[in-house]
Amino acid sequence: AALAGVVEYRNVTFAYPGAESPVLSNISFTARPGQTIAIIGSTGAGKTSLLSLLPRLYDPAEGQVLLDGVPVDRLDRAEITRRVALVPQRPYLFSGTIGHNLRFGKTEATDQELWDALLVAQGESFVREKKNGLDSRISQGGTNVSGGQRQRLCIARALVTKPRVYLFDDSFSALDVATDARLRAALKRTTSDATVIIVAQRISTITEADQILVLDNGRIVDRGTHEELLETSPTYQEIVES
Ligand code: CTP
Ligand code: MG
Repeated sequence: AALAGVVEYRNVTFAYPGAESPVLSNISFTARPGQTIAIIGSTGAGKTSLLSLLPRLYDPAEGQVLLDGVPVDRLDRAEITRRVALVPQRPYLFSGTIGHNLRFGKTEATDQELWDALLVAQGESFVREKKNGLDSRISQGGTNVSGGQRQRLCIARALVTKPRVYLFDDSFSALDVATDARLRAALKRTTSDATVIIVAQRISTITEADQILVLDNGRIVDRGTHEELLETSPTYQEIVES
């Protein structure tokens, strides 16, 4: 189907503009609708860089990134934005109301759609408890909400756009383990036919992923399920034990 949300990286190599050595080398994987693909690896391994190539924040030097079989550099950006939502590692809230912030990607969303998204993102109760609800003010940079609240608002913002593909860059790190688990269970229910790619630090966030890619120094060194990697991957074992 044309709007399925299949993501494919094919032999992708990438260097930042002006840099000599690549930060990603020969990356290949496929993520299909209904699947959750997790990416794990130490700081600087290239996880954020890898995600950034799908919404074309950068383009690879070699290889291709495809969305539903079409190289993303042949799609227009509005089309990519409609299909792909990236929750960045440092999620950004701007000065305005919570409603304004949640409608950032879909200005015509109804209040009900915002509440539905907040419910999944485990942000419903803290917004409801605010005197002005969706009309509560957020200060520039979101300094008047906690780190975990900011993450949940940015996840809700992505949900509002109902994309085919979700990219979560370390989006659960500021949440306590219980909230993280509840959020992912709710996410799984509402995004069951979407393609989900999760970068995570915490192993418990990704144990149920269909496939885990272990990234080390810009290369996928191992891949498999949690159980498989525990058996086969020394790099993964190190991360689990750390
Ligand atoms: N890098 C760079 N220029 C940028 C961003 C990153 O040269 N604008 C480099 C970093 O210094 C790092 C490599 O690219 O050596 C990979 O960075 P990144 O993809 O951000 O690594 P992550 O795996 O996302 O690291 P973290 O876990 O800390 O988020
Ligand atoms: Mg990162």
